[in-house]
Amino acid sequence: MLKQEIEDGQASLADPAFRQDVLRGFDAHPRAIPARWFYDRAGSELFEQITDLPEYYPTRTETAILRDCASDIATRAGAGRAVVEFGSGSSTKTPILLQAVAPSAYVPIDISGDFLRESSAGLASAFPGLTVLPVEADFMHPIALPMQVAQTPKLGFFPGSTIGNMIPHSSVDLLRAMKESLGEGAMLVIGMDRIKDPATLEAAYDDAQGVTAAFNLNLLTRINRELAGTIPVEQFRHRAIWNDDRARIEMHLEATQDVSFTIEGRPFTMAAGETIHTENSHKYGARDARILLRAGGWTPIAEWTDAEGKFAVILAEAQAARLAP
Ligand code: AVJ
Repeated sequence: MLKQEIEDGQASLADPAFRQDVLRGFDAHPRAIPARWFYDRAGSELFEQITDLPEYYPTRTETAILRDCASDIATRAGAGRAVVEFGSGSSTKTPILLQAVAPSAYVPIDISGDFLRESSAGLASAFPGLTVLPVEADFMHPIALPMQVAQTPKLGFFPGSTIGNMIPHSSVDLLRAMKESLGEGAMLVIGMDRIKDPATLEAAYDDAQGVTAAFNLNLLTRINRELAGTIPVEQFRHRAIWNDDRARIEMHLEATQDVSFTIEGRPFTMAAGETIHTENSHKYGARDARILLRAGGWTPIAEWTDAEGKFAVILAEAQAARLAP
């Protein structure tokens, strides 16, 4: 076989959506690649390490809030709902909720079948009597849930401030899709990271040990491996910047010198100082969060936060259609 044929053969093994997002992302100005591509095996392991970092407060803060408010959520939601988790794999948070609300079924939804099978198996053994009904799907669109829970009222669960990855427009689309998936009478438990002083926010996304830098730079390594790239990874550096106007942390990869490289044989150049925008992590003040939920078709009914107000867990119910001035 010719070298080119071998390379083509390897390149064709890559996810076509990844290929498209990367090639388009490098052509665009400013350059940008969707954050969901961080999570290959190495990226997922690095993210797990991030959640333990001293600077990365969201995971431990949200977990502590959930421990405190879970029984309150159970009282407000009532027994027997089916818990539907959007994105499975929040290993420590899910059992806290399931323990408290005694659900009739647990429906984890994830786009990655591997993740889904792993986390479903773990939960099924931790909760022997529980019916676990995994659904492999992209929750950005309305999903048909398993028929076993068709008549059961739902409690959606969307922890981790994952909604912060989306621009507000897409967040509202997602909240509406969730409302449609969950059906009438549904409730939703959602975690949102709050706006706070920029130094705390920037440190959470640019830790002293460099784990977040490695997480960000791993995207370039993944491109090199899966898309036959020649990106000189060591000529890029991690940046985390608080964009106050848009209330979000932005992660970028900045070229430290003029670089040229190829991806699947296509040439690209970047001048020193140019960046690739790799992630947004939007933060919401208390009122901002409530407006966002209402815009997405949900009425906030209770919220809990830590003593310093760093992070919020909000309980909302699906808006019923009605007239309003
Ligand atoms: C998984 C999207 C909630 O935005 O805080 C952590 C991802 N990126 N450090 C976040 C992330 C860098 C994380 N979310």
